[in-house]
Amino acid sequence: MAERSPKYKILMCTSEAAPYAKTGGLADAVPALSMALAKLGHEVRIVMPRYYGINRSALEKIEGAMGVPTGGGEEWCAVYKTDLGGTFPEVRGKANPVPVYFIDHEGFFGRDGIYGSPWEPDFLDNPRRFAFFCRSCFQVCRKTGWYPDVIHAHDWPAALAPVFLRYGERYGAAGRGEDPGETGSFARTVSVLTIHNLGYQGIYSKDNFFYTSLGWDVFYQAGFDDWNMMNFLKAGITTADKLNTVSPGYARETLSPAQGFRRDGDLRCREKDYSGILNGIDTVVWNPRLDCHIPVPYSSGDPGGKTKAKETLQRIFGLPERPEIPLIGMVCRLTEQKGIGALFGPGSGSAWAICRDMDLQFVFLGSGDAWAEQEIRGLASRLSNFRARIGYSEELSHLIEAGSDFFLMPSLYEPCGLNQMYSLVYGTLPIVRNTGGLADTVQNYDQNTGKGTGFMFNDLTPEAVYNTVGWAVWAWYNRPEDITAMRRRGMDQDFSWNKSAQRYAGLYASALAGR
Ligand code: ADP
Ligand code: GLC
Repeated sequence: MAERSPKYKILMCTSEAAPYAKTGGLADAVPALSMALAKLGHEVRIVMPRYYGINRSALEKIEGAMGVPTGGGEEWCAVYKTDLGGTFPEVRGKANPVPVYFIDHEGFFGRDGIYGSPWEPDFLDNPRRFAFFCRSCFQVCRKTGWYPDVIHAHDWPAALAPVFLRYGERYGAAGRGEDPGETGSFARTVSVLTIHNLGYQGIYSKDNFFYTSLGWDVFYQAGFDDWNMMNFLKAGITTADKLNTVSPGYARETLSPAQGFRRDGDLRCREKDYSGILNGIDTVVWNPRLDCHIPVPYSSGDPGGKTKAKETLQRIFGLPERPEIPLIGMVCRLTEQKGIGALFGPGSGSAWAICRDMDLQFVFLGSGDAWAEQEIRGLASRLSNFRARIGYSEELSHLIEAGSDFFLMPSLYEPCGLNQMYSLVYGTLPIVRNTGGLADTVQNYDQNTGKGTGFMFNDLTPEAVYNTVGWAVWAWYNRPEDITAMRRRGMDQDFSWNKSAQRYAGLYASALAGR
């Protein structure tokens, strides 16, 4: 069936893609979706900035400099290329790898940090950096003579790509003196914007608007205006041909004022073009049978390696190597979104009481808000069963998924969440708040029937987190057969991208039909 359906040329515009640049799940989602689409026969390319940390010598340079028109005049950059074939073993050396193009502009991207640094959390020139990036996506197509059917933009840093398409590239860039035949090559291109997180919209002073080289009429028509500021995501939401977010649950939530981050009205205006498509996971990178970061591979039929992973995790974190004690893992960015107030809030968070009152071990990996880092360090120094690594480690995140018995995600909101899916396939039971993608992927434990795949709570309060962790620990000690069955159930679920990639293909088809 897949063979007979139409095949599209798709350009993914993104500020992050693993393994090149990652701060969160966006970086995992884009390449994995691209690969899944390529497997369905679509022609996919990714374009992203070349940040300082991405080693140029490992990339192929595209001949000649590339000019990008901006309101400040033409900016020049270089373009580098590689392909995901080197990263994803299942396509290495095969005919259909996904090329990744890097925009190399020293002034904008030749610095540490993707969006900011510890000293400047949101770089002052971000509106220019990402407006430039969005414009450069079109220039890469021109330079390589490859014109996509679909420009698929991800999150606010890429949200101006649909705007540039609608107010310039699609109809010929008026005023730029370009050959209309050439610019006409985007005439049939449509745009899709995926919202991975409505909490980040890219809101900046409208003094930066001139840099887009769009007219002030477009500022209002394209929906940039946000209380006299310039809002990247709002413009993308207003302009893209189709919109989606990364789970059906979050799509519903974002239409309400309570969880719409002031964009619920804009999204309701676009409701007929807006949907939720659940993320998948990369089943090569996140697979306990193949994972090179865990000591012994394992599966639901042969779970022995999980015990070994737990032992290694306990040893690395300096915890007593006790198989019988439940081990709770957590890996996340330390931001309000992740529910860290209820867990680590000074004087009120439940982590302290959880570790004091319950016979368990707790390991944490992550970084972010300074107050939370400080609290976590304090807990680690006072509690013998709580250990933390403040920082980023891909390797350790895999070991925590594999070696923990439970994985805690008390998110305030969660557009999709990848970690709970990783947990499920690693036989680690998620303890999650009933929200967004968490609610779409975890089934609450029913202690009467033994059914379920994890433990859920509704209110984001220290008490609810405490009680739900307590419930999981109770089940661990009193219902071991339910725990074993839930683990197996989680591990046997299919979270691969296949189905979701087909849904994206359907979204592209409906956008193209609308043209
Ligand atoms: P979000 O994108 O909101 O951060 P997700 O659950 O979708 O949440 O994805 C988070 C991704 O980032 C996961 O792959 C997770 O393992 C990874 N991650 C977050 N913090 C760290 C860290 N400190 N070290 C390693 N990986 C991390
Ligand atoms: C965002 C969301 C997260 C989602 C990820 C990938 O960062 O916070 O819930 O899983 O994007 O779509």
